[in-house]
Amino acid sequence: MSQPNVFITRQLPASLEVLKALASVEVWTERQPPPYEVLLDKIRHADGVLCLLTDPIDRPLIESGTQLRVISQMAVGYDNIDVGTATAKRIPVGHTPDVLTDATADFAWALLMAAARRVVEADRFTRAYQWQTWEPDLLLGSNIAGATLGIIGLGRIGQAMARRARGFDMRILYTNQERCDPALETTLNAEFVTLDELLQTADFVTIHTPLTPETHHLFSDRQFQQMPRSAVLINTARGTIVDPDALYRALAEGQIAAAAIDVTEPEPIPADSPLLSLDNLIITPHIASASRQTREKMATMAIANLIAGLQGERLPHCVNPEVYP
Ligand code: DGY
Repeated sequence: MSQPNVFITRQLPASLEVLKALASVEVWTERQPPPYEVLLDKIRHADGVLCLLTDPIDRPLIESGTQLRVISQMAVGYDNIDVGTATAKRIPVGHTPDVLTDATADFAWALLMAAARRVVEADRFTRAYQWQTWEPDLLLGSNIAGATLGIIGLGRIGQAMARRARGFDMRILYTNQERCDPALETTLNAEFVTLDELLQTADFVTIHTPLTPETHHLFSDRQFQQMPRSAVLINTARGTIVDPDALYRALAEGQIAAAAIDVTEPEPIPADSPLLSLDNLIITPHIASASRQTREKMATMAIANLIAGLQGERLPHCVNPEVYP
């Protein structure tokens, strides 16, 4: 019997040895993602695909995969995949939850601290030889300890942020599609509020909600206008949750004090984006989960999902379990 064909859209930080014993594996070795036409061509002949969040696994592509049995994404988010079409074709879609929770929360916390205390700006200032003397009001930021943190989306990563905030004696507010279990609220010391209440009250707002049609541009002018002028926004979820033009206006006009974003709309951020001119904005290239250990675990988990799908077994981490009887 011939081996199944697998297409992997980038080189992975994990061994493919086990997979190669079971399947004929092709890996896209370039640094940039495969162009859409290439993806289409590869998926047409593939039994399994292992993809990244930069690969648009859309309807035409899934429908062209006449022998496709599994789609495995090396990420927890999967808004680049048309899961509805995959489900209609009874193709399981895998993802990599949990293993990146702490790395992502650590990074979101690093951004929060860096934005609050203007760390990146201070580094630039020092390197530009602008440091003349100790000054009482040089590069003033705001306190983190004792401040109020507003968490948008109290899922795995939102909860990890709440645990970090407890160590800083912060008041924790959250908003979520549904209110969480009271026992969890008590453990995290988190208060459920409306989005408006959270925006009006929090000193720091951190976004941990998936990108859906409902959260697309969840942050626009109206949301920024409700925030205190001293507020700081952190986004490590998806860039499209924040309207970039509204973010620019809010930061340039001092509607909020600062922001730190690991994700942008679009990605990568265009070289002519006005956001790049702002001193009160920190921008990083979608690296919140990028610790060596975490990326290895994500790749290993994605391979395990892929192998399960090829072998007709239930994926260990499946986003559309309704494909199973
Ligand atoms: C994800 O997994 O969805 C992150 O954005 C990348 O780690």
